[in-house]
Amino acid sequence: MKAIDIEKEKLVLRDIKDPLTNPGEILIKTTATAINRADLVQRSGLYPPPPGASPILGLECAGEIIGLGEGVEGFEEGQKVCALLTGGGYAEKVAVPEGQVLPIPSNFDTILSAAIPEVFGTAFLNLYMEANLVPKERVLLHAGASGVGTAAIQLCKAFGNPCFVTAGNLEKIKFCKNLGADDGSVRTKENFLKKVLEWSGDSGVDVILDPVGANYLSDNLKVLTIDGRLALIGLMGGSECEIDLGQVLMKRIKIIGSTLRARSVPFKTHLMQELLKKVWPLFETNEIEPIIDKTFRLSEAEEAHEYVASNQSIGKVLLTVD
Ligand SMILES: NC(=O)c1ccc[n+]([C@@H]2O[C@H](COP(=O)([O-])OP(=O)(O)OC[C@H]3O[C@@H](n4cnc5c(N)ncnc54)[C@H](OP(=O)(O)O)[C@@H]3O)[C@@H](O)[C@H]2O)c1
Repeated sequence: MKAIDIEKEKLVLRDIKDPLTNPGEILIKTTATAINRADLVQRSGLYPPPPGASPILGLECAGEIIGLGEGVEGFEEGQKVCALLTGGGYAEKVAVPEGQVLPIPSNFDTILSAAIPEVFGTAFLNLYMEANLVPKERVLLHAGASGVGTAAIQLCKAFGNPCFVTAGNLEKIKFCKNLGADDGSVRTKENFLKKVLEWSGDSGVDVILDPVGANYLSDNLKVLTIDGRLALIGLMGGSECEIDLGQVLMKRIKIIGSTLRARSVPFKTHLMQELLKKVWPLFETNEIEPIIDKTFRLSEAEEAHEYVASNQSIGKVLLTVD
């Protein structure tokens, strides 16, 4: 099959062996995959795949089932599905544990469905499972116009959580507000602290979804309310800083570190079932949808990565597989 390989630091399409389909796995012929920020970090060598995972990039895909491993039940060949992957999405075929596969929403096409699993999984997991967000609690979403951010805004709106976003320019803030965010702050122009406090009537926020880390930690702690939760999902702003533990202690703040890719198959299976129960109905009624910025072909993965790295994208960038 054809797949993307890393050759002299560039992404190139080449022929490699088809994946084996182990018991309990489903073999998918990929129609599309989506780019995640983690793919950029993985190709730079700073985010190696977990032991046993495919070295090929790609954390999600959608396509058609072309093979069923021993013991797989409830799926059939020819069915259109999307899947949360530990790797291997930038390829014509991928084998994935059955628990990480779901039928595509009936009103979506297969290509669009490739943009669901990783970002809606990450947003739902961290807001509603790790941080136990309940209706009416206020949320601060950093990188609000990212793939994860645009999923999180829509989940917040659907589940009754007012949210404030940060993003790199005014156009992105406007987009986030149209999608359901209450307000926002441009990270390159101002510090978010004052505006978030104004927005929340000085009360602060209950939960923060933060892919930035060190740069924002001090202000994140200031803006969290009593019993606030900080779900740390990335380190785009660095990993080392000093913090005021007084804020953590006195406000009973919980700091939750969370990575999805390295979680076990049973954990991911549970997450996918939660998505099926609580998020799929929102797709099926067109209440929410993945936000697609641009679509490239798999052979154009290098250009697609350059585009994502430029921080211009709003929502997801897809790669279609011929
Ligand atoms: N822990 C997990 O399980 C998990 C899973 C999925 C994703 N993530 C993390 O979630 C984040 C979003 O992922 P994604 O794939 O949705 O990203 P994406 O669509 O590529 O968007 C990332 C955005 O982050 C903003 N950004 C870049 N550098 C930044 C910096 N130094 N400080 C603040 N903002 C910065 C940029 O937007 P602006 O210029 O508009 O701010 C950029 O467009 C990434 O950090 C990713 O690693 C974590």
